[in-house]
Amino acid sequence: MSGDARDIMFFRLSPSDYDQSTRLIADHFMRRNPLCRAIGQMDLESYGEQFLVDIKKCLASGVSVGARDRASQTLAGICLNFSPDLDEAHDMSNSDSDMCVVYRVMAMLSAGTRVFQELKVHRVLDLFTLCVHQDYDGRGLGSKLIEKSVEAGVEEGYQVASVHATNSITAKICTRHGFRIVSSLDLTTVADQMGIDTDLIPGDTEVKMLIKELDSENSKPDPQSS
Ligand SMILES: CC(C)(COP(=O)(O)OP(=O)(O)OC[C@H]1O[C@@H](n2cnc3c(N)ncnc32)[C@H](O)[C@@H]1OP(=O)(O)O)[C@@H](O)C(=O)NCCC(=O)NCCS
Repeated sequence: MSGDARDIMFFRLSPSDYDQSTRLIADHFMRRNPLCRAIGQMDLESYGEQFLVDIKKCLASGVSVGARDRASQTLAGICLNFSPDLDEAHDMSNSDSDMCVVYRVMAMLSAGTRVFQELKVHRVLDLFTLCVHQDYDGRGLGSKLIEKSVEAGVEEGYQVASVHATNSITAKICTRHGFRIVSSLDLTTVADQMGIDTDLIPGDTEVKMLIKELDSENSKPDPQSS
């Protein structure tokens, strides 16, 4: 198996990548994401139908990014992105009826901020699901997928990229890429209410919403680095 950055090709995902993407999520996201582990939500079924609908939405958006091993053709990582309906997202933050716990946590994070209204932006790119195949961990793929997603967002005219980081590694990656924290939630404060076993979370128990404004000079690729 190869895995150095030069052996990996990055590409825009499409609806035809649905089966491989869901398999990657089932095998390498659900079982390893700290929040999924802490609530025992470790298979696609426990997320419910909405998650599958959202994956399809991301693949149809044209701004989701995949990483493929050139030699083995393994799908080594994905960053599934889409443009949320901001009114709908706001409505969702007011209800917790049928949503699974991960969605409820994300809604609580969004409810803690009115940043999009304050920035007066309407084209927001949500970096919805970041996942790297376990065999490719720690080789910079997660970081590269965030970078490529931001580039795709800039190319497509999005004003802001946002991420709900349920893994402190993602928060670290995004901070390095110029994201700033706009909302955070310490899971220990809602553990009983949500049925979250925070002892299963290694390290930081805070989940964070981060954003990056894309229409500033800072977001443009550095011509020196290409
Ligand atoms: C989070 C995830 C996408 C990171 O992917 P990755 O390709 O390993 O990330 P990178 O190689 O770009 O690493 C970024 C940084 O995190 C560090 N890192 C990676 N895996 C780590 C781990 N298991 N523990 C601690 N640090 C880790 C890297 O060392 C690197 O830091 P450094 O530059 O200071 O060395 C991957 O671990 C994953 O898919 N996890 C399960 C699903 C999940 O939780 N997704 C995120 C939801 S918000």
